[in-house]
Amino acid sequence: MTERILVCDDEASLREMLAILLKRHGYEVDQASGVRDAFTQLGKEDAYDVVITDLNMPDGSGMDVLDKARERDVNTQVVMVTAFGSTELAVDAMRRGAYDYIQKPFKNTELLATLEKALEKRAIVDENRELRARVRAGLAGGGDLIGESPAMRQLMSLVHRAASSTSSVLITGESGTGKEMVARALHFQGPRGDKPFVVVNCGALPETLMESELFGHEKGAFTGANRKNEGLVRSAEGGTLFLDEVGELPASLQVKLLRVLQERRVRPVGGSNEVSVNVRVVAATNRDVEREVTEGTFREDLFYRLNVIRLNLPPLRDRPEDIAPLALHFLEKHNVLQGRRLALSDDATAWLKTQTFPGNVRELENTIERAVALADGPLVEPSDLTERPLAAAGFEPSAPTDLPLDGFSLDDYLAAVERRVLYQALEQSNGVRTNAAKLLGMSFRSFRYRLAKYEGDS
Ligand SMILES: Nc1ncnc2c1ncn2[C@@H]1O[C@H](COP(=O)(O)OP(=O)(O)OP(=O)(O)O)[C@@H](O)[C@H]1O
Ligand SMILES: [Mg+2]
Repeated sequence: MTERILVCDDEASLREMLAILLKRHGYEVDQASGVRDAFTQLGKEDAYDVVITDLNMPDGSGMDVLDKARERDVNTQVVMVTAFGSTELAVDAMRRGAYDYIQKPFKNTELLATLEKALEKRAIVDENRELRARVRAGLAGGGDLIGESPAMRQLMSLVHRAASSTSSVLITGESGTGKEMVARALHFQGPRGDKPFVVVNCGALPETLMESELFGHEKGAFTGANRKNEGLVRSAEGGTLFLDEVGELPASLQVKLLRVLQERRVRPVGGSNEVSVNVRVVAATNRDVEREVTEGTFREDLFYRLNVIRLNLPPLRDRPEDIAPLALHFLEKHNVLQGRRLALSDDATAWLKTQTFPGNVRELENTIERAVALADGPLVEPSDLTERPLAAAGFEPSAPTDLPLDGFSLDDYLAAVERRVLYQALEQSNGVRTNAAKLLGMSFRSFRYRLAKYEGDS
């Protein structure tokens, strides 16, 4: 891969000379004639590997270019070019994250050597980051995103690219499609992976509590505020703030959140000063946000701030190619957790592929988890995967004709029915449990497990 370099200097002749030199050495070079121009270049899709920038330019300081480049991608290495005698400024730049500086006038060899070292640094950081991401993702229990469908492949490549930017991300999709999992992948695959990943469930708290929970409060801000609290937004400093169920956020807090996104500042409840924060915001919702924006329940300006990068998770029924690999993944996971060594029968895999999974990936995982607990082994069969009898033709369950007016517990009723059916099956199979289980379309383990609930009773 060709390394991408941005050369920023207001002096056209020097800039051109550098560009020619670097191109001759095989680098891909873009030029910027000043701070404004550099900002435009930095806003483009791919980040630069190295930015070489002059310090003093008519329309601003190279320090701003430095900040912008590192905001875009902390891994971009910045080399400052300074006028003779401004060492102090150069040192200052290095404190702010510049890789190195060279003084004018410089020799070509000197510049090339510095550039090479900068690129080496970048490669090492990249490698470490990737290793760390892998370890982290494993430790966090998130693991790798599984998926072979075209839709998931595309999504994973988007996640990979979006991980290194700081732009806000909005993840949409039905419940159980993997929104939180994607949010974690964005965090752990990116340069913020060793900083906090803070999850906020926006629907979990009443409005008043939510505000101080999110933005913090000063001591004595309200009754019960005995101690100062920095709030969840600030606790994610340097890392990622994951706003789950963002559609549930009350209107007043939508305004405050907008401010965090626009100004990167928060004002704690009862505080008079704002505090600046550096967090990447990733939000998720299973609602139809576009509609809520049209209907006015979700602020349009907040929507646009969050929706900079959009990741939509299709429901599992629209990507049947993912069912088998996911099933295998969950089988392995729950085999380990439950100390079993089951395999999926071909019939079981085929049966899974015919299912629509209204609860999406989460439902598939629950199905496999239950099967691992209940299957006789060594194979998981279709009957282990479903609670429904596979052939119930001509059999209609009866229900009580009139429900008692003073209340009725469906759970108790169903338990009573279950108990009766289990014993009935036992009776019809002369007490042979494996036959009773077969009669009810369930595994022996499942039958035994269910029966155990009632065996104490008489
Ligand atoms: N692509 C995937 N690969 C592996 N595991 C997945 C994948 N997608 C989802 N899962 C697993 O499925 C479960 C549900 O995923 P997750 O919690 O991310 O869904 P969600 O979209 O946030 O759901 P909800 O809207 O209900 O909060 C989790 O256990 C997660 O690990
Ligand atoms: Mg979720």
